[in-house]
Amino acid sequence: MNLFAKQQYLEEKFNDLHFEFYEEIDSTNEKCKELCRKKYIDKWVIIANSQTKGRGRYGRTWDSQAKNIYISFATANAFVHDIVTLNFYLGVVLYRTLIDVFPEIQTHLTLKWPNDLYFNDKKLGGILIENVDNELKWIVVGMGINVYSGENEIPNTATSLQMQEIKDDNVRVRIIERLLHNVYLTNREEDYRELFWEYCRKTQYNVYRYTKHNEIHAGIAQKLHADGSMTIRDTKGQQIHLQI
Ligand code: BTN
Repeated sequence: MNLFAKQQYLEEKFNDLHFEFYEEIDSTNEKCKELCRKKYIDKWVIIANSQTKGRGRYGRTWDSQAKNIYISFATANAFVHDIVTLNFYLGVVLYRTLIDVFPEIQTHLTLKWPNDLYFNDKKLGGILIENVDNELKWIVVGMGINVYSGENEIPNTATSLQMQEIKDDNVRVRIIERLLHNVYLTNREEDYRELFWEYCRKTQYNVYRYTKHNEIHAGIAQKLHADGSMTIRDTKGQQIHLQI
C-alpha cells in the first residue's frame, strides 16, 4: 500500500493537524523544526517515504531507505519536568502503539532503556527529540520504524516488521494512525504516567537490555523511577542505576 494514497484519509481523520508528506526529504525532524519556527508549532506532522540525511541519537545517522516510517511532530513540553523524562514517556507511547496495532508481537517487543524499540534482540525503531526553541518549551519528536526494510538493507543488529513476518499492506497507515491517536490522546501528564507505570509493571523483574561502554548488556529490571532512570541488577548481582 502506498502511504501517499492514504494522505487524505489521515488529513480528514486528524483535521486539526497540518500534514506534509514527502517522497524524499533530508530529515523530517529538520523540516518540522523549520516549519514550527514559522507558524503553528504544535500542529505539524511531517511524514516521509525516505530520508537522505536521517539522524539518530548521539549524532549517528539513521538508515532511511524507502518504505519505512519516518515521522516528526511537535509537542509541548509543559507537562513533564524535563526532556529526559519526556524521552522515556514517548518510548512507552511508541511501544504501546505497536502493541495496540499488533497485539500478537507483545512477547517479542521491548524497549531498550530509555527508548529504543527492539523486536527480540534487534532494533526496530528509535526516537530523536530536539528543541524547537531554547527554552525547551516546544520540542520536535522524530520517530523511525523499520517496516519494509529487507535483510540486506539494514545492519544485522536491526530488523523490520516485514522481516518478522508482519506483512499487512496497510502497516504504515495503521501504525501512524494509532501513533497520532496515542500521542495526542496522551498529551496529558496523567495519561503518560498511566502508560509509564503499565510498562513499569511489565518490566519489573524482566530481562532488560542497556548500553554501557558501547556494549549491550542484559540485566534484571528492579525499578523504573518516575524520572525515567532505572535500577538494574546485572549478571553479577550488582545494582546499577541507569540515568539517561
Ligand atoms: C535513534 O537513534 O534511535 C533515533 C532514530 C530516530 C530516527 C527518526 S526518523 C524520523 C526523524 N528524522 C530524523 O532525521 N530522525 C528521526
